[in-house]
Amino acid sequence: MSKLKYFYQCQACGYTSAKWLGKCPDCGAWNTMVEEKAVAEPRRRAPGDREKSMPQPLSSIEGGKEKRISTGIHEFDRVLGGGIVAGSVILVGGGPGIGKSTLLIQAASKLAENSRTVLYVSGEESPEQIKLRAERLGINSDKVILLSETNLEGIIAAAAGLTPGSIVIDSIQTMYTEELSSAPGSVGQVRECAAKLMHFAKRSEVPLFIIGHVTKEGAIAGPRVLEHIVDTVLYFEGDRGHAYRILRTVKNRFGSTNEIGVFEMTDSGLTVIENPSELFLSGRPQNVSGSTVVASLEGTRPLLIELQALVSPTTFGMPRRTCIGVDFNRVNLLVAVLEKIAGLHLGGMDIFVNVVGGIKIVEPAVDLGIIGAISSSFREAPIHPKTVVFGEVGLSGEIRAVSQVDARIREAAKIGFERVILPTTNGARLKDSQGLEIVGVTDAGDFLDVLFA
Ligand code: TYD
Ligand code: MG
Repeated sequence: MSKLKYFYQCQACGYTSAKWLGKCPDCGAWNTMVEEKAVAEPRRRAPGDREKSMPQPLSSIEGGKEKRISTGIHEFDRVLGGGIVAGSVILVGGGPGIGKSTLLIQAASKLAENSRTVLYVSGEESPEQIKLRAERLGINSDKVILLSETNLEGIIAAAAGLTPGSIVIDSIQTMYTEELSSAPGSVGQVRECAAKLMHFAKRSEVPLFIIGHVTKEGAIAGPRVLEHIVDTVLYFEGDRGHAYRILRTVKNRFGSTNEIGVFEMTDSGLTVIENPSELFLSGRPQNVSGSTVVASLEGTRPLLIELQALVSPTTFGMPRRTCIGVDFNRVNLLVAVLEKIAGLHLGGMDIFVNVVGGIKIVEPAVDLGIIGAISSSFREAPIHPKTVVFGEVGLSGEIRAVSQVDARIREAAKIGFERVILPTTNGARLKDSQGLEIVGVTDAGDFLDVLFA
């Protein structure tokens, strides 16, 4: 007999407690504790499994060949580290309406074309609605099997009967298992369903895509544990006002992280963008102040991105600082460096910093671009349009070296830039300048002198 147990679980972070609490002691959220029912299953093990879990030396284990299946979408394969690994579980997170379902139905059709059938389970849309979308995308395949179902046991039974080549679960938040009485989307349900699906995927070696919704704060709704269970976590992000969408790897057991794929949402679905730098720089105004181009690196892919800044005198008491696409605290820190080291009087100024194209950059190599754009706007002096910058700025104004300089310079040369301003230490170790003028700088003052020379 299994033992029934009730407990309270925070819907924000997964913290459990025997009693109800108004405030979660772990994450501090209010009114998030919900009653959950747990079925404590006796831990039984199939006799055949015993041998597998005997301790054994690493060298004696036969390395299985890593079988990668191509999704048929080049950028999708790239973020997956070269294709799908058999039996892997891939979580695709993203805000509402960003295009998760579109991406996966397109991938499903390509997968079905190239290999075996794909089971597309939707708990959000009826088969008719999916059909409507598919027609719009020009997809019509008898190897894409649609299933409108939210009961997990039903899905697993259907999948076991069909033996598809891969499975897509359209939103884990709509699925429920009969074992738990809590509502679909609650922490317990999400975790339990994911664990069961994972178990099925590993046993049957069928790759599984799980779509997950994202909360306002940007984390995948439901428990953090979901990210721990799965093999790969991808985030699909982008500004709804822009057509660009970026698929980003956050975790990957079978490849590198921070890899990105760039897509554009068109009226016939998502299309791959082969050369994102060109796209992000198209429509760049020439000879206006406050704009710089940064050679940034996302995973292994260099990206040239335009950074813009607007500096103007404050009209209300408190100066405003607004950043889109770059870290707010980082910008404040760089403003402080500019004031103290380079002597720019930014105290009474409103400062706005924006990354064009709705993309986010987190790496410190954009620092040089940020101080370049801010000082350009402050001095109302345009930066030469064929100049690219990158480098990290330290608190005492020193310019620090960054990684993978050659890739950045190659990209700049490809797009047609003529001059690169970079940390001196990077410049000294450079193998090939690709015909560009390379200017090394050691501190912020130095950099501004070179930039506006
Ligand atoms: P969808 O894949 O339904 O988003 P999600 O599953 O992440 O919630 O995509 C919805 C948006 O994409 C919707 O606002 C309309 C837009 N869209 C296009 O612009 N073109 C298309 O061909 C399709 C199918 C959707
Ligand atoms: Mg959807």
